[in-house]
Amino acid sequence: SDPRPTDLVVFGGTGDLSMRKLLPALYLLDRDGNLDGRTRIVAVSRNGLTDADLRGKAESAVRGHHAVQVVEAGVLRRFLDRLSHVTVDPGGDPSGWTDLAAALLPGRDRVFYLAVPPMAFGAICTGLDGAGLVTPDSRVVMEKPLGHDLASSQALNDEVARVFPEDRTYRIDHYLGKETVQNLLVLRFANVFLEPLWNSRWIDHVQITVTETVGVGGRKGYYDTSGAMRDMVQNHLLQLLCLTAMEPPASYDPDAVRDEKLKVLQSLRPITGEQVLQDTVRGQYGRGVVNGVEVPGYLDEPGGSDTSNTETYAALRAEISNWRWAGVPFYLRTGKHLDRARSEIVIRFREVPHPIFPGTNAAGTGSLVIRLQPDEGINLTMLTKMPGAGALQLRPVPLELSFADTFATRSPEAYERLLTDVLAGDSTLFMRRDEVEAAWRWVDPVIEAWNGLSTGPETYPAGGVGPAGAHRLIGRTGRTWYEEE
Ligand code: BG6
Repeated sequence: SDPRPTDLVVFGGTGDLSMRKLLPALYLLDRDGNLDGRTRIVAVSRNGLTDADLRGKAESAVRGHHAVQVVEAGVLRRFLDRLSHVTVDPGGDPSGWTDLAAALLPGRDRVFYLAVPPMAFGAICTGLDGAGLVTPDSRVVMEKPLGHDLASSQALNDEVARVFPEDRTYRIDHYLGKETVQNLLVLRFANVFLEPLWNSRWIDHVQITVTETVGVGGRKGYYDTSGAMRDMVQNHLLQLLCLTAMEPPASYDPDAVRDEKLKVLQSLRPITGEQVLQDTVRGQYGRGVVNGVEVPGYLDEPGGSDTSNTETYAALRAEISNWRWAGVPFYLRTGKHLDRARSEIVIRFREVPHPIFPGTNAAGTGSLVIRLQPDEGINLTMLTKMPGAGALQLRPVPLELSFADTFATRSPEAYERLLTDVLAGDSTLFMRRDEVEAAWRWVDPVIEAWNGLSTGPETYPAGGVGPAGAHRLIGRTGRTWYEEE
């Protein structure tokens, strides 16, 4: 049966996320024929814009987006016609709710997208409920940060849960919308040859790296309350770890997948107290040169504290205490203002049980590299004989799968996938409440232990490879980060 038409109501509809990500993604869906012709988008903000103002802003946002190369006038018009603006001040003048009620059509599905700071979630949900706008099929979308620690995350979830049941609550982790992240599940569970190797018997360790060249930009105020651990590790890196480590789910149903991810989070060995000195490293960028431009250090960035201990880099050695992974370290690292922007998962295989090529560099091992961005691809490195009649020499050589070369189609933006799924009512790629809370249970003690240390984060020059401590962290067991080979 045809899905019902939807009114998508975006709180924070004129804000940064809407302009940079949501509206361009909706435009691309529309352009490519993936948005129901009847879907309407209602942007809600406090700032009294007219529909024409909003459409003007939306047009510039669409034209300025890197994935939108040519704008066809007819498509743009059709898209802008879907948009309207309603002014609502959630904690203030209640007349906004009446205006919103008047803007919504009866008999449609409603999706309420909360692209606003979390302190506004409660007032918005209460306001929607009070105005009678929440129908039995209405869904809510929560954007990060989903709390600041376990307690605040629970409080936030409780506020939303008073109005929306869990199965209609969609928590965004935009990494789950990335093409290659979904492909990780396909790679693991649609092919037969990886699963027999996917355990401590054949895998030595796993590395998950997400580095950025950007600094905190204009977000120091937010970032000072967050840091890399809350901003990146608690959500994106742990989600990647879950997809890498989870058991095969019985089906690709939302709860089957999320049950398996939850078990991984629950199996993470806690890192507490003094253990952080062994198993974690935190860094903060100092001044330096990034892509040829001189940049200030974190403490000199405008809009926040100049004595902050906030980490802009974190590296950790995680362990999953279960039968499959006991003894296999998962090294995680992420940071801002580094020399390169890239996200990848590296599976390092063990050495062969019995090497038979004496006198060669046969102690090398193979790896599987799943590159999420840029240049999405999969790279299987195998030891190979170098051509030549002389002494036998081996070399690791990659079998490369490049998405750009293999598929003529463009990879959609993460938000195109996620918005499509919310509109269709599919929550597989969204985080369930218990997952988010399990992630905080592992992250909180690390931050608490850091706060108890007499030393702060290690300063690293912007534009470099990050703190030396990260190299000691992995080097302690004779291993190296993937790019160092
Ligand atoms: C966001 C973080 O969730 O992810 C940002 O708040 C970070 O600090 C961003 O820059 C990275 O996302 P992407 O898609 O650019 O890798």
